[in-house]
Amino acid sequence: MMRKVLIATRNPNKVRELQQLLSSVIECVALPEEAPEVDEDGSSFYENASKKAREYSRLTHLPTIAEDSGLEVDALNGAPGVFSARFAGPLADAGANNRHLLERLRGISSEDRTARFVCCMIYREGDSEHEFRGEVRGRIAPQLSGTSGFGYDPLFIPEGYTQTFAEMTAELKNSMSHRYQAIRQLTAFLKHRG
Ligand code: IMP
Repeated sequence: MMRKVLIATRNPNKVRELQQLLSSVIECVALPEEAPEVDEDGSSFYENASKKAREYSRLTHLPTIAEDSGLEVDALNGAPGVFSARFAGPLADAGANNRHLLERLRGISSEDRTARFVCCMIYREGDSEHEFRGEVRGRIAPQLSGTSGFGYDPLFIPEGYTQTFAEMTAELKNSMSHRYQAIRQLTAFLKHRG
């Protein structure tokens, strides 16, 4: 029988991605409706992911997968980082965050617009915690292009490509994304454990 593992996120895109990739290794359990929100108030992706994994595993008594991710821009000393979802303010949507990012990078040349997406994924079982990190490097485009994906996808051009993540098919983006790389490492770890 496969081990039941809680997927500690309410983001339906992430749940689907995790389920697809992990369904041969574990039985994925969704976060209960009534589970409280956990504040993402840490100063690193690791702190936020670890806190979610700890609190939700304590609540459900299940092994738990939690993750935190975001964009780090070199010319902004790693911002927006853990503030990626609310870069333009507490209630900002992706459109506002993207406009804010373009504004902050105004006048900065193409070669200095380097950035990376980072994903920190935690698997917690009992008192033991395992961390898996994925990263994809690229640069921030001078303007928005493309309509697929979410968040900063219309501004992010991965290294070796000329189109943004939002101009790619989901398959192509997922084949190189920070989240996919972290999930692959986690899958290998779970398979090895049996
Ligand atoms: P969280 O991990 O759900 O807190 O997401 C943090 C924020 O990082 C999202 O709201 C997006 O702004 C950004 N982000 C994380 N992963 C991606 C991605 O694959 N594409 C675009 N934006 C992303």
